[in-house]
This record gives sequence, C-alpha cells and structure tokens, in this order.
Amino acid sequence: MPSNIVILISGSGSNMTAIVRAAAARRWQARFGARVAAVLSNRPEAAGLALAREQGIATGVVDHKAFGSREAFDTALAAAIDAHAPSLVVLAGFMRILTPGFVAHYAGRLVNIHPSLLPAFPGLNTHQRAIDAGCKVAGATVHEVTAELDHGPILAQAVVPVLPEDTAATLAERVLSQEHRLYPQAIEHWLAR
Ligand code: GAR
Repeated sequence: MPSNIVILISGSGSNMTAIVRAAAARRWQARFGARVAAVLSNRPEAAGLALAREQGIATGVVDHKAFGSREAFDTALAAAIDAHAPSLVVLAGFMRILTPGFVAHYAGRLVNIHPSLLPAFPGLNTHQRAIDAGCKVAGATVHEVTAELDHGPILAQAVVPVLPEDTAATLAERVLSQEHRLYPQAIEHWLAR
C-alpha cells in the first residue's frame, strides 16, 4: 500500500529538505512504499517551496490571509492535503495553530517538530527562553500532534548543550542541525512500525 507523505512548511524548509534527502538516500519508496507526495505552505513566499520544486515535488499554497477564520483556512488546507491521500502529514516549521477539527481529521498520522525539549517551552521564542531560564541543555522534540499546542505524545528527542556564550541565534543553529538528523529518523521509525 503506497504511503504518501505531505509536508507542511511556512519558511525556509530546511527540515523538509532533510526529509526529502533521507527519503531518497534511505530508499523509503523501496522499503516502505513511501514518498514525499507534496509540500504545502500557508505562505506564498516560503523559500522551501522553490527547493521542493527543484526536487520535482508537487507544491501548493493555501494562504491563511485569504480566509476569515481558522476553521475556513483549516478546511481549505485539509482539502489541499487530502488531494494527495496522505498516510502521514508532517509539520516542518509550519507556523499556524491548528483547529481541533483539523487535528482530529489527521489523528494518528500528524507529526510535528518543535525546537525545545518538550514539555519545556511550548510555543514561540524557545531558544531565548531556554537561555533566560539558565538551561544547560536544549534540543528538539518530534511529537504526535494533538489538540493542545506542542503537547502530543513524544516520538523522539535530540539534546544539545547550551554554551555560556550562546545567543538565541547560535543555539537555534545548533538545535536545527540536530533537527535535520532527528526528524527523518523519527519519520523512518514511524514508517517502519
Ligand atoms: C525549526 O527549528 C522548527 O523546529 C521550528 O521552526 C523551524 C523551521 O525551520 N518549528 C516551530 O517553531 C514550530 N512551532 P525550517 O523551515 O528550516 O525547517
């Protein structure tokens, strides 16, 4: 049974790129019948869209600014996703809060990466908050998405040190490089279940 993966992005798409590379390098199609079928963004200017197109992947935009409510946006987004009949929907730097109805529709097949060691620091500005709290380690979490923001069951985590001279930017860079290893690994684990 083919396993279509749809990836949602809002920005640079570096996690998406890492997943697309892993899919090829680790032969997800041959091993799991899995392929990245589409990359969708809520922002037309998301740099990751061009990167996806360069890889020959279908892309689409559902611009949240064109909708009057979260429900209307999520309904249109779900229609765009479902056109690709996904068995897994991957949030990769997708910066929108999703409605409970959307999350329920994808129950058990919706995952996210968050740049903190959840349950610490859900929400935004995770790296500055970790520095301000005096954390000695930081990291990233891959988790199933549930209705409560950044709170679903944890699938995988990566830990990095927080160094005395760190700024939010240097810490973000260290965490992001681990995200690129962690997220493909967690997805492969999900596919192999
Ligand atoms: C990543 O650090 C990801 O963990 C974070 O946005 C960045 C996206 O980078 N996600 C969130 O903050 C979700 N709340 P990318 O577009 O280069 O993959």
